[in-house]
Amino acid sequence: MTQELTSTDPARPAARSGEAPGWWRDAVIYQVYVRSFADSDGDGIGDLRGARSRLPYLKDLGVDAVWLTPFYASPQADGGYDVADYRAVDPLFGTLRDAAEFVRAAHDLGLRVIVDIVPNHTSDRHPWFRDPDLARERYVFRPGKGPGGELPPNDWESVFGGPAWTRTERGDWYLHLFAPEQPDLDWDNPDVAAEFDSVLRFWLDLGVDGFRIDVAHGMVKAPGLPDIGHGAQAKLIGSQVLPFFDQDGVHAIHRSWRRLLDSYDGDRIGVAEAWAPSPERLALYVRPDELHQAFNFPFLTASWDAAALREVIDASLAATASVGAPTTWVLSNHDVVRHPTRLGGPRRGRAATLLMLALPGSAYLYQGEELGLPEVTDLPDEVRQDPAFLRSRRTHTTGDNVPRADEDPADLSGQEGRRDGCRVPIPWSGDRPPYGFGPGGSWLPQPPSWRRLSVQAQTGDPASTLELYRAALSLRRRLPGLGDGSLTWVPAPPGVLAFARPGMLCTLNTLGHDVEIPVPGEPLLASVTPVTRDGLTLLPGDGCVWWAI
Ligand code: GLC
Repeated sequence: MTQELTSTDPARPAARSGEAPGWWRDAVIYQVYVRSFADSDGDGIGDLRGARSRLPYLKDLGVDAVWLTPFYASPQADGGYDVADYRAVDPLFGTLRDAAEFVRAAHDLGLRVIVDIVPNHTSDRHPWFRDPDLARERYVFRPGKGPGGELPPNDWESVFGGPAWTRTERGDWYLHLFAPEQPDLDWDNPDVAAEFDSVLRFWLDLGVDGFRIDVAHGMVKAPGLPDIGHGAQAKLIGSQVLPFFDQDGVHAIHRSWRRLLDSYDGDRIGVAEAWAPSPERLALYVRPDELHQAFNFPFLTASWDAAALREVIDASLAATASVGAPTTWVLSNHDVVRHPTRLGGPRRGRAATLLMLALPGSAYLYQGEELGLPEVTDLPDEVRQDPAFLRSRRTHTTGDNVPRADEDPADLSGQEGRRDGCRVPIPWSGDRPPYGFGPGGSWLPQPPSWRRLSVQAQTGDPASTLELYRAALSLRRRLPGLGDGSLTWVPAPPGVLAFARPGMLCTLNTLGHDVEIPVPGEPLLASVTPVTRDGLTLLPGDGCVWWAI
Protein backbone atom coordinates (compact mmCIF):
# COMPACT_ATOMS: atom_id res chain seq x y z
CA MET A 1 0.00 0.00 0.00
CA THR A 2 2.91 2.33 0.67
CA GLN A 3 3.59 4.52 -2.35
CA GLU A 4 7.09 4.77 -3.69
CA LEU A 5 8.68 8.17 -3.52
CA THR A 6 10.15 8.40 -6.99
CA SER A 7 11.93 11.68 -6.49
CA THR A 8 15.62 11.14 -5.72
CA ASP A 9 15.74 14.54 -4.12
CA PRO A 10 13.51 14.51 -1.06
CA ALA A 11 12.43 17.97 -0.03
CA ARG A 12 15.12 19.35 2.25
CA PRO A 13 14.63 22.51 4.21
CA ALA A 14 15.98 25.23 1.97
CA ALA A 15 17.47 27.72 4.36
CA ARG A 16 18.05 25.95 7.64
CA SER A 17 21.75 26.44 8.07
CA GLY A 18 22.78 29.72 9.63
CA GLU A 19 19.38 30.28 11.24
CA ALA A 20 19.10 30.86 14.95
CA PRO A 21 17.95 27.73 16.77
CA GLY A 22 14.58 27.73 18.46
CA TRP A 23 12.41 29.08 15.64
CA TRP A 24 9.44 27.49 17.37
CA ARG A 25 9.78 29.48 20.59
CA ASP A 26 7.78 32.40 19.21
CA ALA A 27 6.42 30.91 15.98
CA VAL A 28 2.92 31.51 14.68
CA ILE A 29 1.79 28.14 13.37
CA TYR A 30 -1.20 27.90 11.03
CA GLN A 31 -3.33 24.75 11.14
CA VAL A 32 -4.43 23.50 7.74
CA TYR A 33 -7.33 21.07 8.06
CA VAL A 34 -6.51 19.57 4.70
CA ARG A 35 -9.98 18.43 3.61
CA SER A 36 -11.42 21.92 4.13
CA PHE A 37 -8.63 24.25 2.99
CA ALA A 38 -8.35 24.14 -0.81
CA ASP A 39 -9.45 21.56 -3.37
CA SER A 40 -7.45 21.14 -6.59
CA ASP A 41 -9.36 18.36 -8.36
CA GLY A 42 -13.02 19.29 -7.93
CA ASP A 43 -14.13 16.37 -5.75
CA GLY A 44 -15.23 18.82 -3.07
CA ILE A 45 -12.53 17.64 -0.65
CA GLY A 46 -9.42 19.70 -0.01
CA ASP A 47 -6.08 18.14 -0.94
CA LEU A 48 -2.32 18.64 -0.81
CA ARG A 49 -2.06 20.23 -4.25
CA GLY A 50 -4.79 22.69 -3.33
CA ALA A 51 -2.98 23.50 -0.10
CA ARG A 52 0.29 23.98 -1.97
CA SER A 53 -1.34 26.48 -4.31
CA ARG A 54 -2.33 28.59 -1.30
CA LEU A 55 1.10 28.68 0.35
CA PRO A 56 1.84 32.20 -0.98
CA TYR A 57 -1.31 33.37 0.82
CA LEU A 58 0.03 31.95 4.09
CA LYS A 59 3.42 33.54 3.52
CA ASP A 60 1.73 36.87 2.90
CA LEU A 61 -0.47 36.43 5.99
CA GLY A 62 2.74 36.33 7.99
CA VAL A 63 2.82 32.92 9.66
CA ASP A 64 6.01 30.96 10.30
CA ALA A 65 4.85 27.39 9.89
CA VAL A 66 1.99 25.20 8.72
CA TRP A 67 0.57 22.19 10.56
CA LEU A 68 -1.13 19.72 8.22
CA THR A 69 -3.82 17.49 9.73
CA PRO A 70 -3.67 13.77 8.77
CA PHE A 71 -3.57 13.09 5.03
CA TYR A 72 -2.52 9.45 5.37
CA ALA A 73 -4.29 6.42 3.92
CA SER A 74 -7.44 6.08 5.96
CA PRO A 75 -11.05 4.92 5.73
CA GLN A 76 -11.89 8.40 7.14
CA ALA A 77 -13.98 7.11 10.04
CA ASP A 78 -12.68 10.10 12.04
CA GLY A 79 -11.52 12.63 9.47
CA GLY A 80 -8.25 10.76 8.90
CA TYR A 81 -7.39 10.28 12.60
CA ASP A 82 -7.92 6.59 11.84
CA VAL A 83 -4.76 5.74 9.92
CA ALA A 84 -4.47 2.54 7.88
CA ASP A 85 -1.00 3.23 6.45
CA TYR A 86 1.24 5.83 8.08
CA ARG A 87 3.60 5.99 5.12
CA ALA A 88 1.02 6.51 2.37
CA VAL A 89 -1.04 9.49 1.29
CA ASP A 90 -4.76 8.83 0.93
CA PRO A 91 -5.82 9.22 -2.72
CA LEU A 92 -8.43 11.72 -1.49
CA PHE A 93 -5.58 14.07 -0.65
CA GLY A 94 -3.05 13.23 -3.38
CA THR A 95 0.17 11.24 -3.52
CA LEU A 96 3.41 10.99 -1.63
CA ARG A 97 4.97 13.12 -4.32
CA ASP A 98 2.37 15.83 -3.57
CA ALA A 99 3.37 15.69 0.09
CA ALA A 100 7.05 16.03 -0.78
CA GLU A 101 6.28 18.90 -3.14
CA PHE A 102 4.20 20.63 -0.48
CA VAL A 103 7.13 20.48 1.94
CA ARG A 104 9.57 21.68 -0.69
CA ALA A 105 7.34 24.58 -1.80
CA ALA A 106 6.79 25.64 1.82
CA HIS A 107 10.51 25.59 2.53
CA ASP A 108 11.18 27.62 -0.59
CA LEU A 109 8.92 30.29 0.90
CA GLY A 110 10.65 30.04 4.29
CA LEU A 111 7.68 28.29 5.92
CA ARG A 112 8.14 25.22 8.15
CA VAL A 113 5.86 22.22 7.96
CA ILE A 114 4.71 20.01 10.78
CA VAL A 115 2.53 16.97 10.24
CA ASP A 116 0.18 15.04 12.48
CA ILE A 117 1.17 11.68 13.95
CA VAL A 118 -1.51 9.46 15.49
CA PRO A 119 0.17 7.00 17.88
CA ASN A 120 -2.58 6.15 20.38
CA HIS A 121 -4.63 4.15 17.90
CA THR A 122 -4.74 3.03 14.29
CA SER A 123 -7.62 2.39 11.94
CA ASP A 124 -9.32 -0.98 12.30
CA ARG A 125 -8.30 -1.41 8.62
CA HIS A 126 -4.60 -1.20 9.51
CA PRO A 127 -2.86 -4.47 8.47
CA TRP A 128 -1.90 -5.15 12.09
CA PHE A 129 -5.49 -5.09 13.26
CA ARG A 130 -6.74 -7.11 10.31
CA ASP A 131 -4.41 -9.98 11.21
CA PRO A 132 -6.06 -11.59 14.28
CA ASP A 133 -2.80 -12.92 15.71
CA LEU A 134 -0.83 -9.71 15.26
CA ALA A 135 -3.78 -7.74 16.56
CA ARG A 136 -3.83 -9.59 19.88
CA GLU A 137 -0.16 -8.76 20.42
CA ARG A 138 -0.23 -5.12 19.40
CA TYR A 139 -3.62 -3.83 20.58
CA VAL A 140 -5.39 -3.93 23.94
CA PHE A 141 -7.53 -7.08 24.06
CA ARG A 142 -9.08 -8.41 27.27
CA PRO A 143 -11.65 -11.05 28.20
CA GLY A 144 -15.07 -9.70 29.18
CA LYS A 145 -16.61 -9.76 32.65
CA GLY A 146 -19.72 -11.54 33.85
CA PRO A 147 -21.04 -14.98 32.92
CA GLY A 148 -19.82 -15.80 29.43
CA GLY A 149 -17.73 -12.62 29.35
CA GLU A 150 -20.55 -10.60 27.86
CA LEU A 151 -19.74 -7.44 29.83
CA PRO A 152 -16.89 -5.05 28.92
CA PRO A 153 -13.61 -5.60 30.82
CA ASN A 154 -13.96 -2.30 32.70
CA ASP A 155 -16.11 0.83 32.93
CA TRP A 156 -14.09 3.10 30.62
CA GLU A 157 -16.08 5.24 28.21
CA SER A 158 -15.15 6.30 24.70
CA VAL A 159 -14.49 10.03 24.29
CA PHE A 160 -17.09 9.87 21.53
CA GLY A 161 -19.69 8.26 23.82
CA GLY A 162 -20.62 4.71 24.79
CA PRO A 163 -18.30 2.01 26.14
CA ALA A 164 -14.62 2.16 25.20
CA TRP A 165 -14.74 -1.57 24.37
CA THR A 166 -16.07 -3.58 21.45
CA ARG A 167 -16.53 -7.35 21.47
CA THR A 168 -15.00 -9.40 18.69
CA GLU A 169 -16.43 -12.48 17.04
CA ARG A 170 -13.98 -14.53 19.11
CA GLY A 171 -15.69 -13.26 22.25
CA ASP A 172 -12.96 -11.07 23.71
CA TRP A 173 -13.00 -7.28 23.76
CA TYR A 174 -10.69 -4.57 22.36
CA LEU A 175 -10.16 -1.09 23.72
CA HIS A 176 -10.92 2.07 21.73
CA LEU A 177 -10.79 5.36 23.60
CA PHE A 178 -12.34 6.95 20.50
CA ALA A 179 -14.49 5.24 17.80
CA PRO A 180 -14.64 1.43 17.46
CA GLU A 181 -12.83 1.96 14.14
CA GLN A 182 -9.86 3.33 16.15
CA PRO A 183 -8.46 0.45 18.25
CA ASP A 184 -5.89 1.52 20.87
CA LEU A 185 -2.36 0.25 20.37
CA ASP A 186 -0.57 -1.62 23.17
CA TRP A 187 2.53 0.47 23.84
CA ASP A 188 3.88 -2.22 26.16
CA ASN A 189 4.76 -4.12 23.00
CA PRO A 190 8.19 -2.98 21.72
CA ASP A 191 7.09 -3.62 18.12
CA VAL A 192 4.74 -0.66 18.45
CA ALA A 193 7.48 1.74 19.54
CA ALA A 194 9.81 0.45 16.84
CA GLU A 195 7.19 0.98 14.16
CA PHE A 196 6.53 4.57 15.23
CA ASP A 197 10.26 5.35 15.30
CA SER A 198 10.38 4.16 11.73
CA VAL A 199 7.31 6.20 10.73
CA LEU A 200 8.76 9.36 12.30
CA ARG A 201 12.01 8.79 10.41
CA PHE A 202 10.09 8.32 7.18
CA TRP A 203 8.55 11.80 7.41
CA LEU A 204 11.66 13.44 8.84
CA ASP A 205 13.63 12.02 5.89
CA LEU A 206 11.04 13.58 3.61
CA GLY A 207 11.87 16.93 5.18
CA VAL A 208 9.13 17.76 7.67
CA ASP A 209 10.03 20.07 10.54
CA GLY A 210 8.16 18.17 13.20
CA PHE A 211 5.03 16.50 14.45
CA ARG A 212 1.82 17.40 16.18
CA ILE A 213 1.31 14.36 18.38
CA ASP A 214 -2.32 13.31 18.56
CA VAL A 215 -3.58 12.21 22.00
CA ALA A 216 -0.02 12.50 23.34
CA HIS A 217 -1.37 11.86 26.84
CA GLY A 218 -3.07 8.57 26.00
CA MET A 219 -0.63 5.91 24.86
CA VAL A 220 0.07 4.39 28.28
CA LYS A 221 -2.70 2.87 30.38
CA ALA A 222 -2.58 2.17 34.13
CA PRO A 223 -1.54 -1.41 34.94
CA GLY A 224 -4.55 -3.68 35.39
CA LEU A 225 -6.82 -1.20 33.56
CA PRO A 226 -8.70 -0.27 36.75
CA ASP A 227 -12.32 0.91 36.76
CA ILE A 228 -12.92 4.63 37.17
CA GLY A 229 -16.21 4.28 38.97
CA HIS A 230 -17.67 7.46 37.53
CA GLY A 231 -20.49 7.78 35.04
CA ALA A 232 -19.61 10.92 33.08
CA GLN A 233 -15.97 10.36 32.19
CA ALA A 234 -15.88 12.97 29.40
CA LYS A 235 -16.26 15.62 32.10
CA LEU A 236 -13.20 14.29 33.92
CA ILE A 237 -10.87 14.57 30.93
CA GLY A 238 -8.37 17.29 31.61
CA SER A 239 -9.45 17.71 35.22
CA GLN A 240 -7.65 14.71 36.72
CA VAL A 241 -5.22 11.96 35.85
CA LEU A 242 -7.22 9.03 34.52
CA PRO A 243 -6.11 5.39 34.12
CA PHE A 244 -6.04 6.07 30.36
CA PHE A 245 -5.02 9.75 30.19
CA ASP A 246 -1.93 11.57 31.45
CA GLN A 247 -0.27 8.48 32.91
CA ASP A 248 3.36 9.17 33.85
CA GLY A 249 4.51 6.40 31.52
CA VAL A 250 3.85 8.48 28.39
CA HIS A 251 6.84 10.67 29.16
CA ALA A 252 9.33 7.89 28.39
CA ILE A 253 7.89 7.73 24.87
CA HIS A 254 8.19 11.49 24.39
CA ARG A 255 11.75 11.43 25.70
CA SER A 256 12.76 8.81 23.19
CA TRP A 257 11.08 10.78 20.39
CA ARG A 258 13.00 13.89 21.46
CA ARG A 259 16.24 11.96 21.05
CA LEU A 260 15.09 10.89 17.61
CA LEU A 261 14.14 14.45 16.62
CA ASP A 262 17.47 15.77 17.89
CA SER A 263 19.36 13.23 15.80
CA TYR A 264 18.20 15.13 12.68
CA ASP A 265 19.64 18.34 11.32
CA GLY A 266 17.72 21.56 11.73
CA ASP A 267 15.34 22.28 14.52
CA ARG A 268 12.65 19.57 14.28
CA ILE A 269 9.93 19.76 16.89
CA GLY A 270 7.30 17.72 18.69
CA VAL A 271 4.03 19.33 19.83
CA ALA A 272 1.82 17.50 22.31
CA GLU A 273 -1.92 17.45 22.03
CA ALA A 274 -2.26 16.65 25.71
CA TRP A 275 -5.19 17.23 28.05
CA ALA A 276 -3.55 17.46 31.45
CA PRO A 277 -5.30 18.40 34.71
CA SER A 278 -3.10 21.43 35.45
CA PRO A 279 -0.55 23.73 33.81
CA GLU A 280 2.06 22.04 36.01
CA ARG A 281 1.27 18.58 34.66
CA LEU A 282 1.11 19.96 31.13
CA ALA A 283 4.58 21.44 31.60
CA LEU A 284 5.94 17.93 32.19
CA TYR A 285 5.45 17.29 28.46
CA VAL A 286 7.82 20.14 27.60
CA ARG A 287 10.69 19.45 29.97
CA PRO A 288 14.07 20.02 28.30
CA ASP A 289 14.45 16.39 27.25
CA GLU A 290 10.83 15.95 26.09
CA LEU A 291 8.69 17.74 23.53
CA HIS A 292 9.11 21.34 22.43
CA GLN A 293 5.54 22.54 22.84
CA ALA A 294 2.16 21.47 24.19
CA PHE A 295 -1.17 22.99 23.26
CA ASN A 296 -2.46 25.30 25.96
CA PHE A 297 -6.04 24.08 26.28
CA PRO A 298 -6.60 25.85 29.63
CA PHE A 299 -6.25 29.14 27.68
CA LEU A 300 -8.65 27.92 24.99
CA THR A 301 -11.22 26.89 27.56
CA ALA A 302 -10.96 30.06 29.71
CA SER A 303 -14.10 32.16 29.96
CA TRP A 304 -14.39 35.76 28.76
CA ASP A 305 -13.49 37.29 32.07
CA ALA A 306 -10.46 39.45 32.87
CA ALA A 307 -9.64 37.70 36.15
CA ALA A 308 -10.01 34.22 34.65
CA LEU A 309 -7.85 35.14 31.68
CA ARG A 310 -5.16 36.66 33.85
CA GLU A 311 -5.13 33.60 36.08
CA VAL A 312 -4.67 31.21 33.17
CA ILE A 313 -2.02 33.41 31.54
CA ASP A 314 -0.03 33.62 34.79
CA ALA A 315 -0.36 29.90 35.49
CA SER A 316 0.68 29.01 31.94
CA LEU A 317 3.71 31.30 31.96
CA ALA A 318 4.84 30.12 35.39
CA ALA A 319 4.47 26.43 34.57
CA THR A 320 6.37 26.58 31.29
CA ALA A 321 9.03 28.90 32.75
CA SER A 322 9.67 26.30 35.45
CA VAL A 323 10.91 23.91 32.76
CA GLY A 324 12.42 26.51 30.43
CA ALA A 325 9.87 26.03 27.64
CA PRO A 326 7.94 28.69 25.77
CA THR A 327 4.20 28.92 26.35
CA THR A 328 1.80 28.29 23.49
CA TRP A 329 -1.58 29.91 22.91
CA VAL A 330 -4.53 28.68 20.90
CA LEU A 331 -8.15 29.78 20.51
CA SER A 332 -9.56 27.54 17.79
CA ASN A 333 -8.92 24.19 16.15
CA HIS A 334 -10.77 21.46 14.26
CA ASP A 335 -12.24 19.97 17.46
CA VAL A 336 -13.76 23.02 19.12
CA VAL A 337 -16.43 25.63 18.43
CA ARG A 338 -14.77 28.49 16.53
CA HIS A 339 -13.77 31.15 19.04
CA PRO A 340 -15.84 34.12 17.80
CA THR A 341 -18.97 31.99 18.33
CA ARG A 342 -17.71 30.35 21.51
CA LEU A 343 -16.80 33.64 23.16
CA GLY A 344 -20.00 35.42 22.19
CA GLY A 345 -19.55 37.16 18.85
CA PRO A 346 -17.08 38.54 16.29
CA ARG A 347 -16.16 41.57 18.38
CA ARG A 348 -14.86 39.39 21.20
CA GLY A 349 -13.27 37.06 18.66
CA ARG A 350 -11.13 39.89 17.29
CA ALA A 351 -10.22 41.10 20.78
CA ALA A 352 -9.27 37.59 21.92
CA THR A 353 -6.99 37.24 18.91
CA LEU A 354 -5.15 40.48 19.65
CA LEU A 355 -4.76 39.36 23.25
CA MET A 356 -3.33 36.00 22.15
CA LEU A 357 -0.91 37.49 19.65
CA ALA A 358 0.39 39.93 22.27
CA LEU A 359 1.37 37.15 24.69
CA PRO A 360 4.90 35.77 24.90
CA GLY A 361 5.50 32.45 23.18
CA SER A 362 4.12 30.65 20.19
CA ALA A 363 0.56 30.92 18.83
CA TYR A 364 -1.52 28.47 16.83
CA LEU A 365 -4.09 29.74 14.32
CA TYR A 366 -6.81 27.57 12.81
CA GLN A 367 -7.61 28.08 9.14
CA GLY A 368 -10.41 30.56 8.59
CA GLU A 369 -10.06 32.30 11.94
CA GLU A 370 -8.19 35.07 10.13
CA LEU A 371 -11.41 35.59 8.16
CA GLY A 372 -13.42 35.82 11.37
CA LEU A 373 -15.42 32.75 10.36
CA PRO A 374 -18.14 31.85 12.85
CA GLU A 375 -19.11 28.30 13.70
CA VAL A 376 -21.67 26.94 11.24
CA THR A 377 -24.52 26.05 13.55
CA ASP A 378 -27.22 24.88 11.16
CA LEU A 379 -25.67 22.00 9.24
CA PRO A 380 -28.32 19.44 8.36
CA ASP A 381 -27.83 16.09 10.08
CA GLU A 382 -27.50 14.29 6.72
CA VAL A 383 -24.25 16.07 5.85
CA ARG A 384 -22.54 15.64 9.20
CA GLN A 385 -19.60 13.23 9.31
CA ASP A 386 -18.16 13.59 12.80
CA PRO A 387 -18.17 10.14 14.43
CA ALA A 388 -18.97 11.82 17.72
CA PHE A 389 -22.20 13.07 16.16
CA LEU A 390 -22.98 9.79 14.48
CA ARG A 391 -22.53 7.95 17.79
CA SER A 392 -24.74 10.34 19.70
CA ARG A 393 -27.39 11.18 17.13
CA ARG A 394 -30.15 9.85 19.30
CA THR A 395 -29.57 12.86 21.51
CA HIS A 396 -28.48 15.37 18.86
CA THR A 397 -31.03 15.47 16.09
CA THR A 398 -31.81 19.15 15.91
CA GLY A 399 -28.84 20.25 13.83
CA ASP A 400 -28.20 22.91 16.47
CA ASN A 401 -24.57 22.71 17.42
CA VAL A 402 -24.33 25.75 19.65
CA PRO A 403 -23.65 24.64 23.21
CA ARG A 404 -26.69 24.78 25.41
CA ALA A 405 -26.55 26.91 28.55
CA ASP A 406 -26.24 23.85 30.78
CA GLU A 407 -23.27 22.52 28.85
CA ASP A 408 -19.63 23.33 29.12
CA PRO A 409 -18.94 24.99 25.75
CA ALA A 410 -15.36 23.83 25.76
CA ASP A 411 -15.94 20.26 26.90
CA LEU A 412 -13.44 18.94 24.32
CA SER A 413 -15.82 21.20 22.54
CA GLY A 414 -17.79 19.24 20.15
CA GLN A 415 -16.79 15.75 21.13
CA GLU A 416 -20.52 15.51 21.73
CA GLY A 417 -21.01 15.69 18.03
CA ARG A 418 -20.53 19.26 16.98
CA ARG A 419 -17.17 19.25 15.28
CA ASP A 420 -18.42 19.50 11.68
CA GLY A 421 -19.45 23.11 12.35
CA CYS A 422 -15.83 24.28 12.52
CA ARG A 423 -14.73 22.16 9.57
CA VAL A 424 -16.73 23.79 6.78
CA PRO A 425 -14.45 24.55 3.77
CA ILE A 426 -13.18 28.11 3.88
CA PRO A 427 -14.19 30.85 1.39
CA TRP A 428 -11.51 32.27 -0.88
CA SER A 429 -13.36 34.32 -3.51
CA GLY A 430 -16.51 34.90 -5.50
CA ASP A 431 -20.20 35.30 -4.73
CA ARG A 432 -21.34 31.72 -4.68
CA PRO A 433 -20.35 28.46 -2.97
CA PRO A 434 -17.82 26.96 -3.01
CA TYR A 435 -16.29 30.46 -2.95
CA GLY A 436 -13.08 29.50 -4.73
CA PHE A 437 -12.51 26.47 -2.48
CA GLY A 438 -12.10 24.39 -5.64
CA PRO A 439 -13.48 23.70 -9.10
CA GLY A 440 -16.26 21.45 -7.76
CA GLY A 441 -18.45 21.75 -4.66
CA SER A 442 -17.54 21.48 -1.01
CA TRP A 443 -18.01 18.44 1.22
CA LEU A 444 -19.95 20.50 3.75
CA PRO A 445 -22.28 23.33 2.65
CA GLN A 446 -21.01 26.88 3.16
CA PRO A 447 -23.39 29.60 4.41
CA PRO A 448 -24.48 32.29 1.88
CA SER A 449 -23.17 34.98 4.22
CA TRP A 450 -19.61 33.74 3.68
CA ARG A 451 -19.33 35.62 0.38
CA ARG A 452 -18.66 38.70 2.49
CA LEU A 453 -16.02 36.85 4.50
CA SER A 454 -13.89 35.48 1.66
CA VAL A 455 -10.20 36.29 1.37
CA GLN A 456 -10.99 38.31 -1.75
CA ALA A 457 -13.79 40.28 -0.07
CA GLN A 458 -11.64 41.21 2.93
CA THR A 459 -8.31 41.90 1.27
CA GLY A 460 -7.53 45.61 1.29
CA ASP A 461 -10.37 46.51 3.65
CA PRO A 462 -8.64 47.95 6.73
CA ALA A 463 -11.70 47.22 8.88
CA SER A 464 -11.65 43.52 7.99
CA THR A 465 -10.56 40.74 10.31
CA LEU A 466 -8.14 39.45 7.66
CA GLU A 467 -6.30 42.79 7.59
CA LEU A 468 -6.31 42.84 11.42
CA TYR A 469 -4.52 39.48 11.46
CA ARG A 470 -2.09 40.61 8.77
CA ALA A 471 -1.27 43.78 10.69
CA ALA A 472 -0.89 41.92 14.00
CA LEU A 473 1.42 39.30 12.53
CA SER A 474 3.50 41.95 10.81
CA LEU A 475 3.87 43.90 14.07
CA ARG A 476 4.91 40.71 15.88
CA ARG A 477 7.77 40.46 13.43
CA ARG A 478 8.70 44.13 13.59
CA LEU A 479 8.77 44.64 17.36
CA PRO A 480 11.94 42.93 18.56
CA GLY A 481 11.40 40.65 21.52
CA LEU A 482 7.63 40.65 21.23
CA GLY A 483 7.52 36.94 20.48
CA ASP A 484 9.53 35.39 23.29
CA GLY A 485 10.26 38.29 25.66
CA SER A 486 8.94 39.37 29.06
CA LEU A 487 5.42 40.33 30.17
CA THR A 488 4.70 42.85 32.95
CA TRP A 489 1.21 43.44 34.28
CA VAL A 490 0.13 47.06 34.61
CA PRO A 491 -2.61 48.17 37.06
CA ALA A 492 -6.02 48.37 35.35
CA PRO A 493 -9.67 48.81 36.37
CA PRO A 494 -11.80 45.70 37.08
CA GLY A 495 -12.70 43.90 33.86
CA VAL A 496 -9.63 45.27 32.07
CA LEU A 497 -6.26 43.61 31.51
CA ALA A 498 -3.17 45.67 30.77
CA PHE A 499 0.34 44.35 30.28
CA ALA A 500 3.58 45.64 28.85
CA ARG A 501 5.63 43.74 26.30
CA PRO A 502 8.82 44.82 24.57
CA GLY A 503 7.84 47.92 22.57
CA MET A 504 4.13 47.87 23.34
CA LEU A 505 1.34 47.77 25.86
CA CYS A 506 -1.75 45.62 25.41
CA THR A 507 -5.10 46.56 26.92
CA LEU A 508 -8.13 44.27 26.86
CA ASN A 509 -11.58 45.31 28.03
CA THR A 510 -13.72 42.23 28.71
CA LEU A 511 -16.75 44.30 29.79
CA GLY A 512 -19.64 45.00 27.46
CA HIS A 513 -19.19 48.79 27.80
CA ASP A 514 -16.42 51.34 27.30
CA VAL A 515 -14.02 51.97 30.18
CA GLU A 516 -12.09 55.21 30.64
CA ILE A 517 -8.33 54.95 31.24
CA PRO A 518 -5.39 57.33 30.90
CA VAL A 519 -4.02 57.19 27.33
CA PRO A 520 -1.08 54.77 27.52
CA GLY A 521 0.59 55.83 24.23
CA GLU A 522 -0.05 55.92 20.51
CA PRO A 523 -2.44 53.20 19.28
CA LEU A 524 -0.60 50.64 17.17
CA LEU A 525 -3.47 48.32 16.40
CA ALA A 526 -7.02 47.91 17.70
CA SER A 527 -9.81 45.38 17.40
CA VAL A 528 -12.19 48.34 17.85
CA THR A 529 -10.85 51.88 17.43
CA PRO A 530 -10.54 53.69 20.79
CA VAL A 531 -11.58 57.32 21.21
CA THR A 532 -8.91 59.41 22.96
CA ARG A 533 -9.35 62.98 24.23
CA ASP A 534 -7.65 65.22 26.81
CA GLY A 535 -5.26 62.53 28.02
CA LEU A 536 -8.03 59.98 28.49
CA THR A 537 -9.16 57.16 26.28
CA LEU A 538 -12.38 55.23 26.08
CA LEU A 539 -11.30 51.64 25.86
CA PRO A 540 -14.06 50.05 23.80
CA GLY A 541 -16.13 47.28 25.39
CA ASP A 542 -15.04 43.77 24.30
CA GLY A 543 -12.08 45.41 22.61
CA CYS A 544 -8.32 45.02 22.61
CA VAL A 545 -5.80 47.74 21.76
CA TRP A 546 -2.03 47.58 21.30
CA TRP A 547 -0.24 50.84 22.19
CA ALA A 548 3.27 51.98 21.30
CA ILE A 549 5.28 52.73 24.44
C1 GLC B 1 -7.54 14.33 18.62
C2 GLC B 1 -7.93 14.97 17.32
C3 GLC B 1 -9.37 14.67 17.04
C4 GLC B 1 -9.53 13.17 16.94
C5 GLC B 1 -9.00 12.47 18.18
C6 GLC B 1 -8.84 11.00 17.96
O1 GLC B 1 -8.23 14.86 19.70
O2 GLC B 1 -7.67 16.34 17.36
O3 GLC B 1 -9.82 15.29 15.87
O4 GLC B 1 -10.90 12.84 16.77
O5 GLC B 1 -7.73 12.95 18.54
O6 GLC B 1 -7.76 10.76 17.11
